[in-house]
Amino acid sequence: MAKIGEEDLVLFFVPSWGRKYLLCIRERPKFSTHKGTFNLEETVGKSFGVRLLSDRGEVGYVLRPTLEDLLMLLPRRTQIMYPKDIGITLLRLGVGRGMRVLEVGTGNGNFTLALSYFVGSEGRVVSLERRADHLSHAKENLARALGCLKNISLVQVEEEIWPFPDGPLFDAAFVDIAEPWKVLPEVLRVCSPGGPIGCICPTYNQLEMTGTEMERSGIVDLDAIEVLYRKILPREGRTRPHQTMVGHTAFLIFGRITS
Ligand SMILES: C[S@@+](CC[C@H](N)C(=O)[O-])C[C@H]1O[C@@H](n2cnc3c(N)ncnc32)[C@H](O)[C@@H]1O
Repeated sequence: MAKIGEEDLVLFFVPSWGRKYLLCIRERPKFSTHKGTFNLEETVGKSFGVRLLSDRGEVGYVLRPTLEDLLMLLPRRTQIMYPKDIGITLLRLGVGRGMRVLEVGTGNGNFTLALSYFVGSEGRVVSLERRADHLSHAKENLARALGCLKNISLVQVEEEIWPFPDGPLFDAAFVDIAEPWKVLPEVLRVCSPGGPIGCICPTYNQLEMTGTEMERSGIVDLDAIEVLYRKILPREGRTRPHQTMVGHTAFLIFGRITS
């Protein structure tokens, strides 16, 4: 069983206030909170799941972060794609081991991270981003989460004309930029006919424009959805939905490229 290492990213969970923190023990050997200081250093070499008491008697746990924890807790500089939208997107794009996936709009690197995780070492994720500052922030996040960027290429693009020869170079594509319709000609030029494409749009206006242009571009089997996610409080004798919920993140639209 893997032991907690000083260089590992760990999830530190404090049940009494329900907060989770993503920490590297070498960077934060002592973690101070309003409920006292936790000496994280003393958990190095122990198994994940270990219970730790602060100097004021508060309980915390050192856990192994899941992909979802990383997606929610890595530092953010742009709007991110949330786990509820990432899950169905991976299924609709058929993302699996060995696939070559194109992403447009690296942003924070969140979806890039999920793609990298699921295509595995034999796969490849090529992610295009317009802004150099977003690209370097995403690179930092990805290196922190994955250790290295072996199956990821981050490419800065200035225009909607990409530095690739004619395809098919990619098995699937996903677009997360404000105007997805602008890059459709390039997506079609470099992606395999028959392959899936998806776009994410925060507003109805963007969704309508994207759907219209996808159809005009010969993309078929169009399906636009919104994923609603409601937390439930499971408590003896009084289990019920949480009072608050995320009202809206974005719409998703999927289709298939034709030849
Ligand atoms: C909402 S963010 C993407 C978030 C990302 N999916 C994530 O989960 O972290 C959109 C990004 O697209 C970039 N962008 C906008 N237009 C672009 C274009 N034409 N080509 C490449 N990147 C673009 C923006 O700079 C921004 O970083």
